[in-house]
Amino acid sequence: MENLIGLVNRIQRACTALGDHGGDNALPTLWEALPSVAVVGGQSSGKSSVLESIVGRDFLPRGSGIVTRRPLVLQLHKIDEGSEYAEFMHLPKRRFTDFSAVRKEIQDETDRMTGKNKQISPVPIHLSIYSPHVVNLTLIDLPGLTKVAVEGQPESIVADIENMVRLYVDKPNTIILAISPANQDIATSDAIKLAREVDPTGERTWGVLTKLDLMDKGTNAVDVLEGRAYHLKHPWIGVVNRSQADINKNVDMIAARNREREYFNNSPDYKHLAPRMGSEYLGKMLSKHLESVIKARIPSILSMVNKSIDELETEMNQLGRPIAVDAGAQLYTILELCRAFDRVFKEHLDGGRPGGDR
Ligand code: GDP
Ligand code: NA
Ligand code: MG
Repeated sequence: MENLIGLVNRIQRACTALGDHGGDNALPTLWEALPSVAVVGGQSSGKSSVLESIVGRDFLPRGSGIVTRRPLVLQLHKIDEGSEYAEFMHLPKRRFTDFSAVRKEIQDETDRMTGKNKQISPVPIHLSIYSPHVVNLTLIDLPGLTKVAVEGQPESIVADIENMVRLYVDKPNTIILAISPANQDIATSDAIKLAREVDPTGERTWGVLTKLDLMDKGTNAVDVLEGRAYHLKHPWIGVVNRSQADINKNVDMIAARNREREYFNNSPDYKHLAPRMGSEYLGKMLSKHLESVIKARIPSILSMVNKSIDELETEMNQLGRPIAVDAGAQLYTILELCRAFDRVFKEHLDGGRPGGDR
């Protein structure tokens, strides 16, 4: 049987596909009920680097200015064997094995929706990565919070970005991955400011501290990492990503991960925290946490799924399939998916069958 995160991934993709047809139905509400992890932080705080470290691959667009201009829903699927590949929802028949082509397609697909004038759009790009080296996890990369519009962009972009990020972090089922750079005062962190506002008890927030290697000599971030500077319900996790010089030199992700591990093991300041630090640990923790959140939400997801089945059936009856073949086919697919989920989630609710979970 498919794992729970994989199941939720499939409803998410189906909802987005239908969203493209502008259907007026229960699915946006269903989408809202599905837990996911949203990555938030200021520009250049290290969001893309953290995502790439979790994946162990180099595939996100980079550069100065606002690079991420549409949400990227990144679904990681652990496969038992075989080589890694990526697939976009908007290009269902194409398998990408070259990750620099993935980067190019994210850029091109961003431009297709926003035009070349660097606007932003809330319409997500869906990317799936299948690999033996990833954990099952869905992460949403969002535009970086910013305080000033850059040249050529309207002043409103600052508020537009914040509103788009809020759309995700406001949802009670969103897990907030709040990225803050260690070489800035935590009190000024854009990620923490926003997280504190929408999640004051810190229940949904995971604090990630990047750029530990860039702190001034003689200072360290132990106060933050041990939860004294800013307390969250979940422990803070520190990471060391590739520097710009590493990226320019094409330091590969595996080498970077090993170096990160050594950094924590050998650091007099962080040695005692080493087993709970680093990108690999972060990925594992998030996957475990997401799965437990989904499990806890099964009853409410189930009632949403059932409500959707009812509304979809009504909509199907009204639609008359010959008229809108595309929309009709989409609705039909989602209806079938919902029925399948209804069965599978109920099994999980019954405490799972032997060998049922994974
Ligand atoms: P984003 O704008 O939040 O997506 O930030 P990026 O991931 O693109 O990172 C911005 C810059 O900071 C890049 O040049 C990265 O190489 C660098 N960077 C990110 N994390 C670290 C880190 O932990 N250590 C060092 N030395 N550089 C980092
Ligand atoms: Na950014
Ligand atoms: Mg980025």
